[in-house]
Amino acid sequence: MSENPTPAVARTREELRAERARLDDGDVAVVMTMGALHEGHARLIRVARERARHVIVTIFLNPLQFGPKEDLSRYPRTFDADLEICRAEGVDLVFAPTPDVIYPDGDPGVRISAGPLGDVLEGASRPGHFDGVLTVVGKLLHLTRADSAYYGQKDAQQLLLIRRMVRDLDMPVEIVSVPTVREADGLAMSSRNTYLSESDHEVALALSQALRAGAQAAPEGPSAIRRAARAVLVAEPLAQVDYLVLVHPTTLQDVPDWYRGEALLAVAAKVGTTRLIDNTPVVVGPGGGALDVFSGVESAPGT
Ligand code: PAJ
Repeated sequence: MSENPTPAVARTREELRAERARLDDGDVAVVMTMGALHEGHARLIRVARERARHVIVTIFLNPLQFGPKEDLSRYPRTFDADLEICRAEGVDLVFAPTPDVIYPDGDPGVRISAGPLGDVLEGASRPGHFDGVLTVVGKLLHLTRADSAYYGQKDAQQLLLIRRMVRDLDMPVEIVSVPTVREADGLAMSSRNTYLSESDHEVALALSQALRAGAQAAPEGPSAIRRAARAVLVAEPLAQVDYLVLVHPTTLQDVPDWYRGEALLAVAAKVGTTRLIDNTPVVVGPGGGALDVFSGVESAPGT
């Protein structure tokens, strides 16, 4: 892959318009990111590459989706390394604007509302977060004029809300989801993992281990799943659990004990000062289990 040329980089709307015009000989996929790219992002790019003629990656740390006490100021910024990953993955165009390019009039008065699905789980802990996400995703879809857009299952609620937005607002784009990429030890990859010390990392493993334990209990039904997952988290008191839920994959409501079929087992916890999330789709009932792979396949142990 080393022979790939460095992708064009657009920083302004004018540059984006000019570079985008050169990609008009086929369909265009967009992979939206906030930078600090890792193997999870690379997987999204790879899936996009396989399916579309051209790939645009956006790198934009969107202030609108961060609360006043959140980690915007310390979020890792690694543009040169990000660009190298984009080059190695054969990306055509990187759109890396600053906030004043995206929000020239300051914070937008008109925003996309996530509605009630944006108020639960992540939204309950992060008020306004999903309005900020959907507003920027809508803008980036318009600006890039993408035919398809790729999002990780890692952020399941975000993915669900983007699908809903595209349906509810008739946006002409195909949304493609990509399974969660994990470290070899099971930890879901995240730009925020760089905040974790070695001992934090050990504590953080409780999240994926809880999901795996819950999924293994899937044939026995919802209460067994919740009980098994909870037991793992209780055994790791240094993980301060925000929520651990088994919910319907499209309503995000807790599933009742008689429920059988697909559900989402999701967890959020603070480890040290870092808030982490993880989830797995599960099939509840006889023959059920995780619809996720809990060992990393991309990164060799010890690398
Ligand atoms: P960011 O956290 O940078 O993630 C960008 C995309 O990569 C999202 O679709 C996310 O779900 C996906 N992703 C992150 N970690 C992953 C992993 N371990 N496996 C698979 N996919 C993974 O999500 C955002 O940025 C922002 O909210 C954004 C959509 C860019 C809007 O600002």
